[in-house]
Amino acid sequence: MKFIKLLLLLFVIQTQAQQGGMWIPSLLKGMNETEMKNLGMKISAEEIYSVNKSSMKDAVPQFDGGCTAEVISDKGLILTNHHCGFDAIQTHSTLEHDYLKDGFWAYKMEDELPNKDMDVMFVVKIEDVTTKILEGVAILTSEADKQKKIQENISTLSNSSPKESWQENKIRTFYDGNQYLLFVTETFKDIRFVGAPPSSIGKFGSDTDNWVWPRHTGDFSLFRIYADKNNRPAAYSSENVPYKPKHFFPISIAGLKENDFTMVLGYPGRTQEYLPSFAVDQIVNNLNPAKIEIRDAALKVQDGFMRKDPTIKIQYASKYAGVANYWKKWIGETKGLKKSNAIAIKQKFEKNFQEKVIKAGKQAEYGNLISDFEKNYSEIKEYALARDYFTEVALRNTEILSNGYRLYQLEQLLTSKGEQAFTDRKNNLTNGIEDFYKNYNADVDRNVFEQLINLYATKSPKQFLPSNLNSIDAKLVTKEVFETSKLTTLNGFKELLNGDSKTVIENINKDKGYQIIKAMADAYSKNVAPKYDELNLKNIGLQRTYMKAILELSPRSARIFPDANSTLRVTYGKIKGYKPNDAIIYEPFTYLDGIIEKYIPGDYEFDVPQKLIDLYNTKDYGKYAVKGKMPVCFIATNHTTGGNSGSPALDANGNLIGLNFDRVWEGTMSDIYYSPDICRNIMVDARYVLFIIDKFAGAKNIINELKIIQPAKKK
Ligand code: ARG
Ligand code: ASP
Repeated sequence: MKFIKLLLLLFVIQTQAQQGGMWIPSLLKGMNETEMKNLGMKISAEEIYSVNKSSMKDAVPQFDGGCTAEVISDKGLILTNHHCGFDAIQTHSTLEHDYLKDGFWAYKMEDELPNKDMDVMFVVKIEDVTTKILEGVAILTSEADKQKKIQENISTLSNSSPKESWQENKIRTFYDGNQYLLFVTETFKDIRFVGAPPSSIGKFGSDTDNWVWPRHTGDFSLFRIYADKNNRPAAYSSENVPYKPKHFFPISIAGLKENDFTMVLGYPGRTQEYLPSFAVDQIVNNLNPAKIEIRDAALKVQDGFMRKDPTIKIQYASKYAGVANYWKKWIGETKGLKKSNAIAIKQKFEKNFQEKVIKAGKQAEYGNLISDFEKNYSEIKEYALARDYFTEVALRNTEILSNGYRLYQLEQLLTSKGEQAFTDRKNNLTNGIEDFYKNYNADVDRNVFEQLINLYATKSPKQFLPSNLNSIDAKLVTKEVFETSKLTTLNGFKELLNGDSKTVIENINKDKGYQIIKAMADAYSKNVAPKYDELNLKNIGLQRTYMKAILELSPRSARIFPDANSTLRVTYGKIKGYKPNDAIIYEPFTYLDGIIEKYIPGDYEFDVPQKLIDLYNTKDYGKYAVKGKMPVCFIATNHTTGGNSGSPALDANGNLIGLNFDRVWEGTMSDIYYSPDICRNIMVDARYVLFIIDKFAGAKNIINELKIIQPAKKK
């Protein structure tokens, strides 16, 4: 009997451990350390985050605002994903030196390439400031006043909290406004490009394999942080020296197996794990399908052009990847939410929640939450849909419209802020626009425009449309716009901006392209935005109370994690395969053999460099192979999201074993509903990274900088 109880207990610990979660590094000790050790971690929470001593968090910066990187040498060398460095690699590329196609390796430090506007940000320390931020908020009644007071408190405290002159204070909310943490950060601005494999390795499988397991992508690139002579952040200068980090990760090639402990440190962007069922219903049945249809149309057009024209391929590679990425994610997410019955599970949770509220005698405070949510989400439905149509069609996917929108903002600025603001913005626009046109092709855009303006006019909620777009002949409008609009060329754009404010406003308003975006933007800001914002603000207030109630009414053991918010988090789990569908079982490791299986000579997604094929044929894997095979990627139960790309995957000792870059298709709904059965993060194996640097690129200079942990010698 005792034995069975013990087994049961073990089972509970085991399964609980797989429930996902992205945890706050400074709170691991109290919240997670025991569980992490039960799962196999051999180090202490203090080694991951410490205020006083150097710790792992000192080796994990946010990379260029949206990704994560890790320091892997005492000379400031950092590793991140190929897709995170993609823009930089593209910017350094021309048809003659195509680093996207051929890869790039700096064989000495002098060859490393500086990057305009790139930065990496480290967290120096984290402090709870909830009481200070919520001071004087409870007594206010309207949601808008509360938000205003909170914003005031945030800016007062960020300005007054002690920090060094080169540091910054950033305050972020957790649990939807129930907790506030202050982050002291340091941002380095001289970041140089050190190396990347060709896209046929770094982006192998491209969009077909994106979000998919089994995966064979060598999704990594290398950069180096430079600092001034005092080891502090500084703008680019040839005098700068490689940064000396407080901590860097040794890289382990000692071997991995299923069920090994792993953890991932990084900057997950946004999750919505505590949305009510009504919100999830809208995502699944309205919003995702609309966004998917719009992007589907845009992508088909771009893909057609890119396959035919190498110049367009370079121009659109990065834009296409960005749009395709979330398009595909939403498809997987929608499927996954349906298949896992997420809506029904949420409904059950809500029923349960109601009962708990009654039991706790908290009806006055929380009794109406669920019905308020229901009412509010049903009211916001059409507005949210119209908002997504406007955003996806005008701001995100049709370049002439998104570019025209900048001029729309300029016109607005003149009205709201006057001449000086107008002139400043105008000059900024004129100077900044060259990069945009470098990667612009009016033929591509014309075809996208025709498709998307048609979707907008026919599928977006009719009652909010501008009258002149209510029923249109898309072909005709497209012809008119693209045959006359000055927005289709750099010179035309500059011409439009030529002259004083009166001339500029007159000229842009004569432009057919501008007229369309202006009509759309006016209709949006008049018919949609005010009501949407009002209802959305209500939802924010409801969500905060709901979160507060969930925290209060859940047992302590439930350990509720805060949604991702682009701050540093720790997630942990085990290396594990999964069962995606009936009769299919996925193993957790892939090998170079799989690359050769997928190889399609000359294909733009599945080509393989000859050198890699040669290494495969001669099995020239050096010390990086396992039993004669070259590992490539692996999966685990770490709960990650967008922003975690480039995150270090660490073993039980805190050594680097891989680099996070994706999630599996069946589990992409993990941003809204995490299921331990099928949610997996995908990592590129550190052994493959080293093999490519060493054997493929022959960059011994880089290998020599690293601290590599070898397998223990057999006795
Ligand atoms: N899905 C991964 C993430 O969300 C990788 C994206 C880059 N790759 C691509 N083929 N678009 O960022
Ligand atoms: N690929 C994502 C990123 O770029 C990671 C993810 O969504 O799983 O951050």
